[in-house]
Amino acid sequence: MSPLSYIHHFEPGTNPAAPPVLLLHGTGGDETSLLAIGRQFSPGSALLSPRGDVLENGAPRFFRRIAEGVFDLAEVEQRTHALADFILAAAARYDLATTRLVALGFSNGANTAASLLLLRPEVLAHAVLLRPMVVLQPAQTPALDGHQVLISAGQFDPLMPADHPEKLAALLRRGGAEVTVCVHAASHQLVPADHAVAGAFFAQLNSR
Ligand code: MLT
Repeated sequence: MSPLSYIHHFEPGTNPAAPPVLLLHGTGGDETSLLAIGRQFSPGSALLSPRGDVLENGAPRFFRRIAEGVFDLAEVEQRTHALADFILAAAARYDLATTRLVALGFSNGANTAASLLLLRPEVLAHAVLLRPMVVLQPAQTPALDGHQVLISAGQFDPLMPADHPEKLAALLRRGGAEVTVCVHAASHQLVPADHAVAGAFFAQLNSR
């Protein structure tokens, strides 16, 4: 079997009823950064956690940043497809159902999960986007019927323009996704309210 293209951590699930979770860290994180909240939000889930393969002054990310909020969209697209292909290969290797896979992404990882939904919706079932922004606006409407998405934003987040949570929700809803937007009195760092809404989102997924 060929090696998988991203450095990653895989943790097998202990509860077959719990969906597999894809963890996508923020800038400067790695494959260990979100393991604790992955376990907390979805106990017993298999966890697939790649490390971003782009370095910004030594800080791992999933695509390049030219300046704050400025991206090379062709590069974002190319890296989104590369990550989607990794997910498919990892799903085959670890016997994960992408039809149940839930992305949990923070910051750059949330933007990456949103790009996956917009460009390669077949590799994810649902997503929790913690502090995302609008990066891509795809020419084609993605097929997102049946996908549930939680956007958890900070009202005082200096990195994320205030209208982006609703703009991103509109892009995803256009494809048929069911999107919930929660805006907290918070900055870029996560607060207990993020944990509460993300935990509730996973609990309702797991109870279906
Ligand atoms: C990004 O580059 O994806 C966003 O600015 C979020 C971040 O990583 O700081």
